[in-house]
Amino acid sequence: MSANVSTSVDAPTVLDPHAVHVLFVASEIYPLAKTGGLADVCAALPQALCAQGLDVQLMMPAYPDALYQLVAPRPVVDLGEVLPGARVRLIHGHMPDSGLPTWLVDCPSLYRRPGTPYRDPDGRDWPDNARRYGVLCHAAARMALNRCGLAWVPHVVHCHDWHTGLLPLLLQLGGGPRPSSVFTIHNAAFQGNYPLATLAKLGLPEHLASAEGIEFFGQMSFLKAGIRYADKVTTVSPTYARELCTPEFGFGMEGLLNARRDDLHGIINGIDDQLWNPQADPYLPFRYRATELGGKRGCKRVLQDMLGLDPDPMAPLAVSVSRLTQQKMADIVLQQLPVLLQRHSRLQFALHGNGDREIESGLMAMAAQWPGRVAVRIGYSEALAHRLHAGADLLLHPSRFEPCGLAQMYAMRYGTVPVVRRVGGLADSVVDTSQGAGRATGFVFDAANGAAFVDAVERGLGTFYAQPDSWSALQRGGMHADFSWRTPAQAYMQLYAQLLGVVLMERDQAGSGPNLPSLIRHLARPRWRETASRQAS
Ligand code: ADP
Ligand code: GLC
Repeated sequence: MSANVSTSVDAPTVLDPHAVHVLFVASEIYPLAKTGGLADVCAALPQALCAQGLDVQLMMPAYPDALYQLVAPRPVVDLGEVLPGARVRLIHGHMPDSGLPTWLVDCPSLYRRPGTPYRDPDGRDWPDNARRYGVLCHAAARMALNRCGLAWVPHVVHCHDWHTGLLPLLLQLGGGPRPSSVFTIHNAAFQGNYPLATLAKLGLPEHLASAEGIEFFGQMSFLKAGIRYADKVTTVSPTYARELCTPEFGFGMEGLLNARRDDLHGIINGIDDQLWNPQADPYLPFRYRATELGGKRGCKRVLQDMLGLDPDPMAPLAVSVSRLTQQKMADIVLQQLPVLLQRHSRLQFALHGNGDREIESGLMAMAAQWPGRVAVRIGYSEALAHRLHAGADLLLHPSRFEPCGLAQMYAMRYGTVPVVRRVGGLADSVVDTSQGAGRATGFVFDAANGAAFVDAVERGLGTFYAQPDSWSALQRGGMHADFSWRTPAQAYMQLYAQLLGVVLMERDQAGSGPNLPSLIRHLARPRWRETASRQAS
């Protein structure tokens, strides 16, 4: 790639990545808010993009915890009422860990509530979630369309999951020059579908209430809006991108996704390898590396002690850290674990998670039946998640569908061998032992049933007991695998460049400062205006 900046008509514009502004908009970003992998991705990917030189800022709702944790918060602009009765201020500050510039969308009546971002403390969805995330999209659109006089305006708006689905649409409805949009599907099972009457309440034109608009089985759909109106649609693994186009995994969106197949890209997630690093993890009682696993044995001993499991260093310890839902086959784990515990007298199992109330109580009953062998901790704790990944031998991660899955990558980085179903990102990140000793990192099964799950766990236990060398090779394979964000971030960067019609300099060729004049020249080119004037139809 040439290091020369060129703005001639024929040659592509070559830009220093500093010149490209990207706004990430999401409902949760770690550590300000987290209920699952979405928050991890929206924290780590922007850091990786910044490491490549891009100028990335973040935006999310001003939940109480987010306001509390934001560093140097400063109300910057009053947007007024973005929807009737919803007055919004933008608060600017920085992420407590990465220092990334962050915008909080402050609308106290909508976001300053207890519970999780989506649910009240009793686990019920907030009844006004359509309005809550509609307001997020309207506020982001005003900012992105440069309607509030800020010095920093994005060239690419990167939207995540259904909560931000209306944003690509609102950018198009703006009618004037606009930034490009990327919509990433982290989980198509969550769609944000509401009665059609909600359209008007969200300030959207009536004509969108059709199959060609955002009507979806008689409702309006945030997810459909994102898929239909974003310039590019991505999802979090190549396998899930293919699966999404099928009725089995598309949750009704497969037709639309097939129609947009040329604009649909599957880019596997990475993990934050600083935060998830067994050599330097502050949550662990001992640290370790692939070449010296003594510390991992220490972590297992402390974990067994902490959870009241029998202090048996040779017992295979299987763990799960997960939402307890149908997606994660938590029902199958609950059904099949007693079978495995009966057949394998030293097997131990520890679980940390929360979700479906029936599954939670079933698991607690199981723990009571198997003292010393089963430990269940219902709840949500980052520290315990790290300790389980470090202290375990096996991670049990069966899923009916899994867009990417991060837990299996965390586990592998900590020398814990995953048992996963061959779906989505699990298929893309775990290599089964049938693929040969040198490459394998875990045990992969196909059928979504208890027998296939039990069979895969037993393959794992067989290797653990009888083939210590193969077991060590599996551990090393996982610990040495590259799950960093570097390569995925480069793929996103190429996508942004394609949308802007430019070539971005590689990191070592780019200077250290912004290259604004060349971008401004680029934005004046016809291609930008063409994109900008495309209308929502
Ligand atoms: P999903 O987003 O579908 O839940 P992922 O594997 O992508 O699945 O991400 C889950 C994230 O949430 C991981 O960071 C995992 O460690 C974390 N996690 C899930 N349940 C818990 C819990 N009870 N306590 C702490 N972390 C959890
Ligand atoms: C979703 C998916 C999960 C994915 C995560 C981050 O929550 O269920 O598979 O890893 O988003 O992209």
